[in-house]
Amino acid sequence: MKEIVDAPRLSVNVETFRYPDGTVALSDIRFDVERGQFIGILGSNGSGKTTLLKVMDGIIKDYDGQVLLDGDDIRKLSPRDIYSKVGLVFQNPDDQLFAHTVAEDVAFGPRNMGFGDKEIAERVRTALASVDMADCAGKSIHHLSFGQKKRVCIAGLLAMGHEILLLDEPTAGLDPMGEYRMMELLTRLNRENGVTIVMATHSVDLVPLFLHHLHILSKGILARGGPPEDVFTAPADMADVKLRLPHIAELIYRLKHEDNIPFERLPLTIGEARRDILERMKTMK
Ligand SMILES: Nc1ncnc2c1ncn2[C@@H]1O[C@H](COP(=O)(O)OP(=O)(O)OP(=O)(O)O)[C@@H](O)[C@H]1O
Ligand SMILES: [Mg+2]
Repeated sequence: MKEIVDAPRLSVNVETFRYPDGTVALSDIRFDVERGQFIGILGSNGSGKTTLLKVMDGIIKDYDGQVLLDGDDIRKLSPRDIYSKVGLVFQNPDDQLFAHTVAEDVAFGPRNMGFGDKEIAERVRTALASVDMADCAGKSIHHLSFGQKKRVCIAGLLAMGHEILLLDEPTAGLDPMGEYRMMELLTRLNRENGVTIVMATHSVDLVPLFLHHLHILSKGILARGGPPEDVFTAPADMADVKLRLPHIAELIYRLKHEDNIPFERLPLTIGEARRDILERMKTMK
């Protein structure tokens, strides 16, 4: 019984995937997404993030390997079986939104799933409220800001009742406050609604604040994975995968290695760094 409860929702094993022009976009990708996890795929431009999310959503099929969704080979499932559980939020909201108004767009999924008008209205209302967009229900999609469009995309998937959300760069293009609000929204969906979330990103400063498990993707290969403190290592290791440390971690790293101030660990957030600096100051008095 225990195995059934603890079975991964998605189990990814991609030996190789190449695009028709010969570009090898993914190799030797192996990881599981457990129920209720909120994990990040961190990688630079061109590292394979979008490709990997498309594989995990069953859009790309012609790879060597296997992706299991709740134990079933995703390539053998019907689109309906997949989309009743997994939803992908595209990198660019304009690739996803197409109806005239916000409410019509969010209603499209539930209508396609065959729900009645009353159920659809309720789903649209709840989904828009979850992304703080209830006031914009009647607004034209074309008049929304970029950040609002990103929220409507998420609402569209929530209205369909997805248990697993794959998000491609949900914070890209948002202002600093918008980035925080988006991450807070995703954290809330994960904690309160139990949505399992996988997000692709290159926002190294934001990730340690919100994500507990990361995989670094570099040139289509998983370079390393684990909690942020295991994944963010020396600046040179980060440069090898075309990323950098969070700014605050870079500062502490330099204080330790160039100015010989004996920090014990590499803090990744301002809160952690503040605590460590105060500790150091106490021992230096
Ligand atoms: N349709 C395609 N045909 C050929 N090569 C492609 C295609 N789409 C993507 N690629 C290549 O696959 C690799 C991975 O691309 P992908 O879009 O998955 O990267 P990404 O990590 O999402 O990048 P970004 O951060 O810029 O969104 C790149 O080398 C890219 O040039
Ligand atoms: Mg991409």
